[in-house]
Order: sequence, then structure tokens, then C-alpha cells
Amino acid sequence: MEILTHSYPLDRFRVVGGSSLQGDVTITGAKNSVLKLMAVTLLAKGSCTIHNVPDIADVAMMAELLERLGCAVTRDLQKQTVSIDVPETPGYRAEYELVRKLRASINVLGPLVARLGKAEVALPGGDAIGSRGLDFHTKGLVALGAEAHSEHGYIIASAPNGLKGAEITLDFPSVGATENIMTAAVLAKGVTVLDNAAREPDIVDIGNFLIAMGADIEGLGTPTITIRGVEALSAADHTAISDRIVTGTWAFAAAMTQGDISIHGARPEHLELPLEKLVSTGAVITTIPDGIRVKMDRRPSAIDVSTLPYPGFPTDLQPFVITLNAIAEGDALVTENVFEGRFMFVNELLRLGAKIRVDGHHAAITGVKQLSSAPVVASDIRAGAGLVLAGLVSDGVTFVEGAYHVDRGYPNFAEQLRALGADVTRVD
Ligand code: UD1
Repeated sequence: MEILTHSYPLDRFRVVGGSSLQGDVTITGAKNSVLKLMAVTLLAKGSCTIHNVPDIADVAMMAELLERLGCAVTRDLQKQTVSIDVPETPGYRAEYELVRKLRASINVLGPLVARLGKAEVALPGGDAIGSRGLDFHTKGLVALGAEAHSEHGYIIASAPNGLKGAEITLDFPSVGATENIMTAAVLAKGVTVLDNAAREPDIVDIGNFLIAMGADIEGLGTPTITIRGVEALSAADHTAISDRIVTGTWAFAAAMTQGDISIHGARPEHLELPLEKLVSTGAVITTIPDGIRVKMDRRPSAIDVSTLPYPGFPTDLQPFVITLNAIAEGDALVTENVFEGRFMFVNELLRLGAKIRVDGHHAAITGVKQLSSAPVVASDIRAGAGLVLAGLVSDGVTFVEGAYHVDRGYPNFAEQLRALGADVTRVD
């Protein structure tokens, strides 16, 4: 297995302000789908190949986790595939050392309990975007007949006599809990009805992979998912959907820098609200045969946004909304309803001269014409990418520390920016 070698904790981006991004980008598979598709392979013995896999650090980390569980993982960066050969009896313990770096490792919980009747998964770390509970995950497994408790930093779950279908209503349409419950219920005896389920395109993609493996699932993409348990699943291949958050990042980047970017491989139907909002900023969005083109020829107008579960405005694009508003014409109010810690990166934008006032989960922003370069620190994937874009709309040279955060979710970010005409390099 090939592990990315370009990720060093001390790497920084050096961003020279003033470029307008012009040109083409191609979107690969969605991080938040691919990592979960990889975990889902644990549900069947044999070899699955996932196509359209992005060259990001998190994929290497999930591959390592699966290898530790006894799988053979082969990654082909050229073909953008990852093949996972799952043994008859994989391991059941996901160690803290790996799990802490990758929130999506929690997605091995459902498949392991369903297939082996036991799992021990370290409580994950992940992004610094606020507290991220796992109570819905464990309550869901308990409703399916498992015993689950946390002990010494691990979730210990067991179902020695197998799982049983149940009616489960989530308190909040959590993406991770929907995935873990769905991937456990596929091998349970009887029918599971999951209400208030998450409707993200990633959930639909994972569900379609499960169906290709032999699962019986209805209602994907709606708030009620019905899963009829089957005896066993078999290995299958799957092509991951394209990354709507990376697509949205480039779309906001075009609007912010008064640029013109053709985004190939984009799925605009997964980004209806963000694209509508971009049109309100003054951007012109047209469809091209394999994606969209986003063009902006004036200073953007400010936009109010409230983040919500899909099909609402994605919390993962919120840092780009704030950055755009920081240099937009007018005042804006941005409300974060999903992750309370997500405004942490606002302090970094303040260092760049942005005018932002945060009150609880609201941020009030008054646009300035240009930001003013300074050294800043990335705290998570999206904040990191947002700060690099902020550097592009600043005067002078901005250094963004913590480039490894961006490597977790964006393939070759600096190279792609250079291809669009920006002066962005990595320095250590
Ligand atoms: C996933 C995505 C993340 C995205 C988020 C929301 C991955 C790897 N990450 O995260 O990029 O921002 O969806 O679209 O796919 N919650 C609880 N208890 C639980 C589960 C969740 O209280 O058991 C809360 C969380 O603290 C958060 C909210 O529910 O406030 C949403 O979390 P969730 O949808 O589960 O997000 P993730 O799956 O962690």
C-alpha cells in the first residue's frame, strides 16, 4: 500500500494575494463517501474495489486501519482505485493511535458488530470543530440488540447472538449514526426502520454499495430508511460519487477571487442551495457537459447563510461563506447549526483584518475590500482551505500553518491552485 509522503505536520502554505483563479479543475470521489465505502467492505469476505478514490491523506489512514484489522489493501494512485481484500475473520479492535487521527474510523463499528458480533473501537478525535458525540451510534446498536458501553476510551460493543431489526428514530439526522446503524442493520434478523435519517448524497452512495453487495435497503435519500436484513453480503466493486464539498470550495474560490473556473466531474444536483447562494453573490453559474462553470466579474455581494443537514446548506462549506463575506460588499449573518466549534477559525480571519463579530452560533460579518496578509493557523480541513483562499484575497504574502489538515481532504491543493494561476507553494 502506498502512503502519501507529502504530508508533514510543520508544512505551511505560502500564499501570494491578488490572483484571480482561472481555468479547469477535476473533482474526484467524495472523502466522506470513500472512507465509509472502505469501512463497509468489512461486511463481506473477499475483494472489493472502489473507484474514483481521491489522493488524500485520510484514505491512506483508513487503509492502514483496515490493514491492522487483517485486510490486504492495494491502492493505485494512477487508476484512482483502492482494493480491499477482507479475510474470513477480520480483527475487531480499532486502536486509538489510528482512530484519533480519523473521525471516519468510527464507521468500522457497525460493520464489525454485524459481521463478527463484537467490536472495540477507540473514541475518535478528528477535526477541531466542536464536540462530536457518539450517543446516537451506540443507542442505535443497542436498539438492534447489541450491548454497548464505553471503557478506557473505547466503545465496546457485542452482539453474540446477532442483531435484530428494530424501529429507530434519531434525535438529529446524524450522518455517522445513520451510516453505522444502516451498516449494522443489513445483517440483522428482520426489518429495521430508521427515521429522521440523514439524507446526504454520501449516505445514498454507501447504501447503493451495500445494495450491490446484496443488501435490501429502501428509502435512501429520504428521512425514512427501511432495511431488511439478509444472511450474508458478498464483495462488490463501486465507483464513489464526486466530492460536493471540494466542488463547493472551487465554486466559492471562483466567486471570491473574481475568477472563472470550470469544475469537471461536479454534481450540481448535490449542491443546489450553495449554488443558489453563489448566484446571489453575483456569480454566473452555467452547466458544462461534465460539470459546472463559475464565473464572477465583480466584487461579490454579501450573503446570509444558515447551515443545516442536507439538503440544507452544508456546514463543511461554512468557512468559505465567511471568507467570501469577509471581502464582500455589505453585511451578512452566518448561523452555524451543526458544529458549535466551527467558528474557531474566525479568530484567524480577524488576524487578516476581517470584520467579524461572533455571538454564540451567529457570526455577523461586514465586508472589507481586501484582507491584510499575516501568518495564520489552520485548525481543520475546511478552515485550512478557507484560510488559503483568504490569503488569495489579501494583500502581500500569507502563511497558513497546518497544511496537513488540508491534505486530509483536498488532493494536491497547492498544485491545483497554481494550475489556476495562483502563487501558492508549500514550505516547511
Ligand atoms: C459528517 C462529516 C462532516 C460533516 C458532518 C455534517 C464525515 C467523516 N464527516 O460528520 O464532514 O461536517 O457529517 O454534515 O463524514 N451528534 C451527537 N451524537 C451522535 C452523533 C452526532 O450529538 O451520536 C451531533 C454532533 O455533535 C453534531 C451533529 O450531531 O453536532 C452532526 O453530526 P454528524 O452528522 O454525526 O456528523 P459526522 O458524521 O461526525
